[in-house]
Amino acid sequence: MTVEPLLQFDHSLRQHNTFGIDVRAHAYLPIFSVADLCSAAQNPTLASLPRLILGGGSNILLQADFPGLVLHMCNRGIECTGEDERAMVVRAAAGESWHQLVLWTLSQGWGGLENLSLIPGSVGAAPIQNIGAYGAELQDCFHSLTAFDMQTGEIFTLDKAACQFAYRDSVFKHALRDRAVILDVSFALPKHWQANLRYAELRQAVEQQGLQSPTPQEISAAVIAIRSRKLPDPAVIGNAGSFFKNPVIAAAQHAQLLVMFPNLVSYPQNDGSFKLAAGWLIDQCGWKGKTLGRAGVYPKQALVLTNLGGASGAEIAQLAAAIQADVEQRFAVKLEPEPLYIA
Ligand code: FAD
Ligand code: EPU
Repeated sequence: MTVEPLLQFDHSLRQHNTFGIDVRAHAYLPIFSVADLCSAAQNPTLASLPRLILGGGSNILLQADFPGLVLHMCNRGIECTGEDERAMVVRAAAGESWHQLVLWTLSQGWGGLENLSLIPGSVGAAPIQNIGAYGAELQDCFHSLTAFDMQTGEIFTLDKAACQFAYRDSVFKHALRDRAVILDVSFALPKHWQANLRYAELRQAVEQQGLQSPTPQEISAAVIAIRSRKLPDPAVIGNAGSFFKNPVIAAAQHAQLLVMFPNLVSYPQNDGSFKLAAGWLIDQCGWKGKTLGRAGVYPKQALVLTNLGGASGAEIAQLAAAIQADVEQRFAVKLEPEPLYIA
């Protein structure tokens, strides 16, 4: 087996990142199968290069040409692999579109993923930051995944506990970073489904439509409508969704901030800490709708940074740094970027 027919050098990544940053990869290899990964791992020239595992490119910031090998997950397939009295188990290949997977499960009549409708990107990237939206997280319906170890060439399976899911976090950002290539993800979709309307904005949208017992499809449609109103479509305006994570702070700091900023938007966490709305912090610093060079802060949602046309990754990073400095000075809170920075 050889990778040569698929391998490309000096490959443009512009179509492969939702910021639309115009940089090139030294080497680019689309991955359709485990065999493609094995041959990349066994090829001495390729194995020595820095690696970037790429899905839809909706959570990365490319700051310069990438001097290594891009492994672009393009494997496909969605199937039901089993069931028990509680759940249907569905397995999807890493290269499948996340939103298409959600729509497929809904078309089968299986609820569980509807609150996560319309999140861009691939199935394989979804566990990396334990994607979350509208009161749900990937881990709520996660069953297991299989991954390829680029160091040993072995395929292994991880259950939920092994993935160490947390808010925008997992083991793939730590011990398994740059090492594990996720091949497929399995989901346990509950047979006794119940609507999750914890997120106030979603609950209000459903109530306004007069839906007493909304179906998974109706909740999906409501989520799609809210998201379409608030977030820019990357096909039109380059962006990576929320640019910063919502910071989590201790109760004591939260109490101090509330004295100075009574309108502070925050959410109590189970462990006594508080999650702050980063969009509110940025908005309060006056950044909403502002621009720096060809990078901008989205006028409808201050947590989203945009490419106004032709911006470099460095320009986006400069805007992000200016926002971080202002938020830290005003609130003594550090904002951490959500997308992976690739220098
Ligand atoms: P990429 O950007 O290609 O990669 C992201 C990270 O995952 C990188 O570190 C990459 O190396 C790694 N990776 C990708 N595939 C694999 C694999 N198969 N194996 C191992 N590592 C891999 N996120 C949310 O959580 N909630 C939201 O509501 C949300 N809304 C968004 C809205 C918009 C408009 C945009 C543009 C983004 C939004 N995001 C959101 C962020 C993004 O969509 C998710 O993080 C998504 O899971 C990224 O998928 P991707 O395939 O594009 O990943
Ligand atoms: N807010 C402002 N001004 C703004 C934006 C927000 O004051 O410009 C305040 C408002 O009070 C608002 C609150 O912040 O009620 C929260 O805003 P929103 O409901 O839009 O959610 P978010 O906290 O900004 C998070 C996720 C999103 C996810 C939504 C819905 C993070 C970092 N972001 O955004 O995820 O879609 O909740 O659940 O957790 C992403 O990760 O890329 C992403 C888009």
